[in-house]
Amino acid sequence: MIANAKKIADGVYWVGALDWDTREFHGYTLHGSTYNCYLVFGDDKTALIDNVYPGFFPELWARIEDAFAQEGKDEIKIDVMIQNHIEMDHSGSLPDIVEKFPDIEIYCTQIAIPGLKNHWPSLVNKEMNPIKTGDTLDLGGKSFTFINAPMLHWPDSNFTLYNEEGILFSNDAFGQHICSGERYDYELDPKAVENVAKKYFANLITLSSPLVVSKVKEMADAGYLDKVKMIAPCHGVIWTKPQTIIDLYAKWATADCEDKITVIYDTMHHSTQKLAHEIAEGIISEGVKVKMCFLKEDDESDVVTEVLDSKAIALGVPTMMNNPYPNVGKIIYYFNCLSFANAGKKKKAAVFSSKGWGGGAINRLTSDLENAGFDVLEDDALDVHYVPDEKALEQAYELGKKLAKAIKED
Ligand code: FEO
Repeated sequence: MIANAKKIADGVYWVGALDWDTREFHGYTLHGSTYNCYLVFGDDKTALIDNVYPGFFPELWARIEDAFAQEGKDEIKIDVMIQNHIEMDHSGSLPDIVEKFPDIEIYCTQIAIPGLKNHWPSLVNKEMNPIKTGDTLDLGGKSFTFINAPMLHWPDSNFTLYNEEGILFSNDAFGQHICSGERYDYELDPKAVENVAKKYFANLITLSSPLVVSKVKEMADAGYLDKVKMIAPCHGVIWTKPQTIIDLYAKWATADCEDKITVIYDTMHHSTQKLAHEIAEGIISEGVKVKMCFLKEDDESDVVTEVLDSKAIALGVPTMMNNPYPNVGKIIYYFNCLSFANAGKKKKAAVFSSKGWGGGAINRLTSDLENAGFDVLEDDALDVHYVPDEKALEQAYELGKKLAKAIKED
C-alpha cells in the first residue's frame, strides 16, 4: 500500500495508522481512531516509539519506508523500539518489527516486559530493557528521558520526552479517538477536539483521576513540564498548545464542574419520561444547564461523558418486578467501574420512578448510586403511581429545582 509519513519536527515523523472504520473501542462508541507512532532519526540510531494494532502493520511499514525516503536514506534500519504501553493497539506490530530487525533494542517499563511476552509469545526470549523515571537514552544528537506513568492508564504505561524538541510522547494519556487526515489540534475545530478528549477522559481516565493530578505535579516539580512544547499521544491529534489539554485534564480530574445536571432516564409507557422532562424544567428554571440522556437511545459512553462535568445527576427508570427497569443496569455497572467520586468531590443525585403497585426501584437505585459514590438526596426520591398526574408532575418540577439549588449552594 501507499501511505506517507508526516514530518512533525526535524528528524521526527508520525508513521501511525488510520483506523477509519472502528466504531467501538474499550467498550465505548467512536467514529474511527488512529494508532499513532513516531519515528525519530538520531545521528547514530533510529527509534520507533510505539506501533500499531494487529492488522495495520502494512500501513505502518509503508509510512516507515516513506520516512526513510524523506530522510534520503536507502537502507531501512530501526535500532531502537520504545514501547510505552503493552496494550495491543500500540504493541500489535512488535513481532513484525522484531522479525524485520532481530537485533532491535526494546525499551519498556519493568512491568511491561512479562506483559509483552504474554501478548506476543514469539518474543519470549527477546531481551527487553526496563526503563524507569529519569532514565535517558541517546540516539546521537537526539535524546529521550523516560517518565513512568503507572495507571495512566495501565500499570505499564510510560511517557517518553524527546528532550531537544520538547515533544512528550504520552501514549494513551491526552489522546482522543479521532480519525482524520489532520495531525494537529489547530487543524480541527477546537471545541470538537475538546469534546472527543472529554469523552476519552470520561471513559478511560476517570478512575485514575488522582494519578493525573499527582503525575502532572511530579512532572512540573521535576522540570519536565517546562520543557514540553508539544504532546504527541497515541490516539488522535497532536497538541501544539500542551497547556490546553493539561488544564482540561486538571479540571476533569478534580471534578471542577460547571452548574450542570445530567438527567438519565428510561421509560416503559412514557410515565418516567414525563417525570424526567418535568425535572428538566425545574432545573432550567434555576438557570442550571441540563443534559438529557435517554437510555433507550443514548450510549452509556456518551452518558458518562456528560456526567463527567456535571455536578449532579437525576436518574429515573420504571419499576419492574419490584426492581429498576433492567436497562439501567448497564449504566450503574459502568458508574461502578469509573468511580466518579475518585475525583475527590461526590456528585449529587436524585432518583425517580413510576411504579404499578409495590415499588422497590427507588431503594435499589438509591443504594446502587450510593455504592457508586454519589451523594443521593434520599428524602426527595420521587416514586409515582402509574401515570403521573398534575400533582406528580409538580413534584418532579420541584425535585429538579431542589437539585439545581443544591448544586448552586454547594
Ligand atoms: Fe491502552 Fe490505546 O491503548
